[in-house]
Amino acid sequence: MINVIGLGYIGLPTALMFAKSGMEVIGTDIDSELVKLLMQGKLVFKENGLENLFNEAVKNGIKFTTEYQKTDTYIIAVPTPYINSSKKLDPKYVISAVNTVLDLCVKGAVLIIESTISPGSIDKYIRPQIEKRGFIIGEDVHLVHAPERIIPGNMIYELEHNSRTIGADNPVIGEKVKKLYSRFCKGEIIVTDIRTAEMTKVVENAYRDVNIAFANELVKICRADNMDVYEIIRIANKHPRVNILQPGPGVGGHCISVDPWFLVGDYPDLTNLILTARKINDSMPTHVLGRIRDIMREHKITDISKVGIYGLAYKENVDDTRESPTLQLLKRMDEHLAFGVKVYDPYIKERIVDHQYMNFEDFLNEIEILVIMTAHDHIKENLDLIKGKLILDTRNICNFKNVYKL
Ligand SMILES: NC(=O)c1ccc[n+]([C@@H]2O[C@H](COP(=O)([O-])OP(=O)(O)OC[C@H]3O[C@@H](n4cnc5c(N)ncnc54)[C@H](O)[C@@H]3O)[C@@H](O)[C@H]2O)c1
Repeated sequence: MINVIGLGYIGLPTALMFAKSGMEVIGTDIDSELVKLLMQGKLVFKENGLENLFNEAVKNGIKFTTEYQKTDTYIIAVPTPYINSSKKLDPKYVISAVNTVLDLCVKGAVLIIESTISPGSIDKYIRPQIEKRGFIIGEDVHLVHAPERIIPGNMIYELEHNSRTIGADNPVIGEKVKKLYSRFCKGEIIVTDIRTAEMTKVVENAYRDVNIAFANELVKICRADNMDVYEIIRIANKHPRVNILQPGPGVGGHCISVDPWFLVGDYPDLTNLILTARKINDSMPTHVLGRIRDIMREHKITDISKVGIYGLAYKENVDDTRESPTLQLLKRMDEHLAFGVKVYDPYIKERIVDHQYMNFEDFLNEIEILVIMTAHDHIKENLDLIKGKLILDTRNICNFKNVYKL
């Protein structure tokens, strides 16, 4: 039996995939409200294919509880935020989960940590905890790090098709865990050591952050001299060895905007490029603010409540708002006493910010400037409705005339 610890964006789909594959799975979360909802068959976030997968897993007997289980296989998928002041990983959730597992696991149990952790975290935080408790690693318990690289919006497909990394102290255990994941994962599964697995995961996200920062820096250069950044990137990418990502209003989510900080926190003297990329991407909501100001000035609009922000989620077609560029933008507006801007996101059904609308047409009726922050399919399907507005399109999805871009 597998006990999956932490039933959020990563833990829940993973638990469901194992259950669908025929494994006996019990999902554990300390959030009793969440567990109650899951027991009632209610999902707390939207994801393509999640409902079907959930139903299949329930048919196969998956159970949800707040209690940790006595077993030989644990998958830990709890949060790993960074500490704002030091930019280092905050390992408290992982440490707490490991400690509770140690209270009841059977001898020889395999602890698979899926949470993203900074390189060296297992050596620094997890091994000492386990040894302090008198357990012998490699005998009483085995440690594995299996970082996850799925993307919200396409998680179920990617769980099945992505390549995976399994870092293990003992290659025999590594192969055993590889066999376990290959119950549902059709991608290549590479077995390596724990430190390499930790570093690889963080490197992947830092790479994307740097590439996006390059595109965002090009936005600023092109804006300064009125050049079309999208056309320039499109043409440059025709070069067989160039692949510039698309610029945007900032970088959000739980991975790309978080993980590079782990490297900056741990190697402050060695991370010039990574730190600069973080700063460029974090500066984009302020760039958007500047563009809103430009449009307001040009059209002599002085009332900020005539500005409507479309999209609270950090990326298209998901309801995940963590670290989202819009939340960063609203925070900066708030700091500059620019209250009253209106907000709408078809995926966010609860009111999480001031002046948030639940109905798209009511929202449109109240505003003159529409700022597209998230490229949900919903807006692409409703371009006809927004044509009369002044539009700042930070995602380059409107190709009609007179649309303002980054
Ligand atoms: N969300 C993503 O797109 C993504 C992608 C790849 C990797 N990751 C990594 O996966 C990990 C989990 O992220 P997430 O997005 O699923 O987080 P999440 O916040 O959605 O879910 C984490 C869950 O863990 C629970 N939890 C916290 N402490 C616990 C404990 N001690 N015991 C049991 N449950 C506990 C919380 O209640 C929560 O439900 C993080 O390290 C993250 O960096 C996330």
